[in-house]
Amino acid sequence: MLRRRRKDVRVMIGIESLAFYTPEQYLDLKTLAAERNVPADKYVHGIGQERMAVLPPDEDIVTMGAAAARHAVEGIDISTIDTLMFATESGIDQSKAAAIYVHQLLGLPANCRSFEIKQACCGSTAALQMALALVAQNPAKRVLIVASDEARYGLNTPGEPTQGAGAIAMVISTTPRLIVFDPESGSYTEDVMDFWRPNYLDEALVDGKFSIQVYMKALEESWNEYQRVSGRGYQDCDYFCFHLPFTKMAGKANRVLARIGGASRTDEDSILASHVDSLHYNRLTGNSYTASLYVGLSSLLENSPGNLTGRRIGLFSYGSGCMASFFSGVVCEDYQRYLQGDRHHAMLERRHELTYEQYKALYCHRLPTDGSEYVIERTSSGPFRLAGIRDHKRIYESNPAAVEHVSAPSRHEVAV
Ligand code: HMG
Repeated sequence: MLRRRRKDVRVMIGIESLAFYTPEQYLDLKTLAAERNVPADKYVHGIGQERMAVLPPDEDIVTMGAAAARHAVEGIDISTIDTLMFATESGIDQSKAAAIYVHQLLGLPANCRSFEIKQACCGSTAALQMALALVAQNPAKRVLIVASDEARYGLNTPGEPTQGAGAIAMVISTTPRLIVFDPESGSYTEDVMDFWRPNYLDEALVDGKFSIQVYMKALEESWNEYQRVSGRGYQDCDYFCFHLPFTKMAGKANRVLARIGGASRTDEDSILASHVDSLHYNRLTGNSYTASLYVGLSSLLENSPGNLTGRRIGLFSYGSGCMASFFSGVVCEDYQRYLQGDRHHAMLERRHELTYEQYKALYCHRLPTDGSEYVIERTSSGPFRLAGIRDHKRIYESNPAAVEHVSAPSRHEVAV
């Protein structure tokens, strides 16, 4: 009897495109520090944040996610998008997935399955790991991942300066242009109450110092597992991107990795110095929960002055509660041609600053919960907006006042 021998042919799977979106208004943390009677240096240097993005009333996780996704699919044949996964912990409905609204706003084909995923900030990485498996089974298909969140803590709590908002969208395929993922990863799960948000609250509850300890433990555990399955060590990664609840966390995380990875002082210093480029966008937008790690990755790729081709990036995703994953990928040749850095910089530059009173009013703004018709005044200039609520249903629309940021070159224009 003839037995078919399985060929060990490894398909390259990774990120084909990556786009990021953040609303156009922010609060400067020096303004918040003055209001809270805290030295500004604590927020700027101690926590490592300069500004936090604030959502206008006519934007939410759907409009942010759709805005990022619209740019991620530019130049891509959307009929090949098999699945849309939306990771968030700021869900707008207990049943209907935010993915379905994005599917409609983007005009994706009806045979594209669309659903939502949750595990705190790690939901986006759970989506990515599922996408890698789906694409491995169907190499002609693509998966669109959207991760979108608004980080909210109570006013005048220690978490307040670590708020923010933003979304990322990435297309995962067998024709990666930015990153090819290594097949190995290490995960860690433990039932802990470091950060959570009961259904009846609009803002998260957190045991701040404890959450940092759990983050570090989860990093150590998932790194050990990654090292065991991959055989790679600290020196095998040229760069690291960490989940960034605030940018100072990257330095803390790197020191833990350097210690357990047995790095020399010089290795640690050079990797610490290389962090700076991955922190730039997060310093200006704040925590975006599920999007945060990938905003950092986008920041590294788009702000690194050198050519990162062939460099291995170690990525650490942490979701409170908790689940974490350590994984890695190698930067593709010619990746710079496919980055959307010009657009991201233009988007960040044209934002406007809020006063403390404006921030507080936006923080306290709530949508009606009685189903009464509610029309939302147009303030956003993003591509999509939440127009209002009718019969308990959210109504989204393309924004006639949308401002286009500098466009990245399309795939066709840059084809070699
Ligand atoms: P805090 O108690 O206000 O701050 O809370 P602190 O007293 O610990 O000070 C913070 C840092 O500023 C310290 O540096 C101080 O020394 C320094 P460190 O010792 O850590 O290196 N500092 C100063 N530096 C310069 N000049 C000064 C000055 N004063 C003090 N004058 C905390 C900080 C992060 C705990 C708080 O903001 C918080 O609770 N944030 C929310 C929770 C959080 O972000 N946790 C992170 C890990 S959990 C996670 O990442 C998951 C998450 O994203 C959610 C999810 O998964 O969905 C949150």
